[in-house]
Amino acid sequence: MQISIRPEKREDFNTIYQLAALAFGQEDESRLIDLLRKDECFIPALSLVAVDGEKLFGHILFTKISIVDQEGRSHISLALAPMAVLPDYQRKGIGGQLIRQGLRIARDLGYSSVIVLGHKDYYPKFGFEPAEKWKIRTHYEVPSDYFMGLALVPDGLEGVSGMVEYSPPFDQI
Ligand SMILES: CC(C)(COP(=O)(O)OP(=O)(O)OC[C@H]1O[C@@H](n2cnc3c(N)ncnc32)[C@H](O)[C@@H]1OP(=O)(O)O)[C@@H](O)C(=O)NCCC(=O)NCCS
Repeated sequence: MQISIRPEKREDFNTIYQLAALAFGQEDESRLIDLLRKDECFIPALSLVAVDGEKLFGHILFTKISIVDQEGRSHISLALAPMAVLPDYQRKGIGGQLIRQGLRIARDLGYSSVIVLGHKDYYPKFGFEPAEKWKIRTHYEVPSDYFMGLALVPDGLEGVSGMVEYSPPFDQI
């Protein structure tokens, strides 16, 4: 299998919907992806698919969020969510390729950090650390080690703290 990572195309939308539904065992994340695509938080260059030729094996999405501190100062960051790999092709490194390529593109686009809410044993492999390190918080009720941050550049989260404000679609699902 020769996996390459590229931005999604319009003709991938339906396949991505089906892929996320299979990976998550429900359609919530698929509907979330469709809603995020129509929101101003969406960055086309950061909705990536893992493909081998025509066949699509995985998808990852990074969208814009704000981290707002107690003084109301807002820092633009990215949320990594959702990501999915076809069940029969998991644990072959496809997810890792999607994350690494996504982080590279995000850095090239000038973003300085990424926030993720997810498996505590998975994302640290890519440098994520519990977001409490920076006093970055979420209104979602999750164990603190499932809510993580990553600086894309040195000092990318220096002086940044506060509550993550997700785009409206996250609360519509
Ligand atoms: C999470 C997911 C995208 C990872 O993709 P992947 O291609 O399997 O990931 P990789 O092959 O790069 O990495 C595999 C490693 O990730 C870890 N991992 C994978 N799935 C995991 C899970 N559900 N829980 C904890 N760790 C997991 C394992 O440590 C695994 O390493 P191992 O094979 O040595 O045990 C994929 O498992 C998936 O689609 N899961 C269902 C949807 C989901 O939960 N998405 C993430 C939402 S936070």
